[in-house]
Amino acid sequence: MSLTAPDFTYVADLVHRESAITLAPGKEYLVEARLLPVARDTGHGTVPALVAELKGRPMGELHRKVIDAMTTNETSWFRDRAPFTALADDLLGELIARRSRERKLRIWSAACSSGQEPYSIIMAITDRLAAAGFGLEVLATDLSEEMLERARAGRYNQLEVNRGLAANLLVRHFTRAGIGWQVSEELRRAVTFRSMNLAVPFPPMMQMDVIFLRNVLIYFDAPTKARVLNSMSRVLRPDGYLFLGGAETTINIDPRFERITSSGATVYRFRGEATG
Ligand SMILES: C[S@@+](CC[C@H](N)C(=O)[O-])C[C@H]1O[C@@H](n2cnc3c(N)ncnc32)[C@H](O)[C@@H]1O
Repeated sequence: MSLTAPDFTYVADLVHRESAITLAPGKEYLVEARLLPVARDTGHGTVPALVAELKGRPMGELHRKVIDAMTTNETSWFRDRAPFTALADDLLGELIARRSRERKLRIWSAACSSGQEPYSIIMAITDRLAAAGFGLEVLATDLSEEMLERARAGRYNQLEVNRGLAANLLVRHFTRAGIGWQVSEELRRAVTFRSMNLAVPFPPMMQMDVIFLRNVLIYFDAPTKARVLNSMSRVLRPDGYLFLGGAETTINIDPRFERITSSGATVYRFRGEATG
């Protein structure tokens, strides 16, 4: 049974209201493909039956499962390489010099999916920070509870490990766990995982030296992108760095961000007055 137009509109409105993810007409196939496993798992059998149930209930656990299922969680180790090289080889030295009194860096992976991004950040900079006698706090947040659970567990199958993780880093930071791999306690301890919806006003937060906001703005409409970037401008330290995904930019959205190139990566600095 396929999804009717009103059912698609209902799901698209729910997902947009709660996560800011935009599902344009034409994405019916995506909704059906993502919600069929949820319908089966929850005993509803079909997507129309699941949607009928959602419509009849107040906002709750089932709605959250549906929103979670509509997030795209594609990620990999050291995704696109250049941002991690830029951070480790170019920006880190300067940050270490500027934070010589605090001797600590705070980094935020703001849509961390299953954890490859925050763990890659630590692997990229841990030796250099340790040599400088610096501490590191990594905050990793996502909307998807399922992804956060996976990220916290730090267990990856062979296929996932094959996507971008160098053999020397695998040997150093992981141990065998059945047919998969377990990230070391040392790495897990360096990250605080927390649920956070970027589409709603941010809670009070520590200021960050570096923010990875990668491959998430693409799912939002223009006003939401502008709101999220404005919120980021308040959390990013005045001399901090913001990384976006390869298909994302601040241009035409928030001109207060300055775009620079570092080791082949595009990085943003905030040059304005934070507002709002
Ligand atoms: C494609 S993944 C990107 C993961 C990682 N940053 C990377 O570049 O590989 C997008 C992530 O954004 C999360 N996401 C989507 N909407 C969100 C929202 N409103 N607030 C927080 N996270 C959101 C999804 O759950 C998903 O894990």
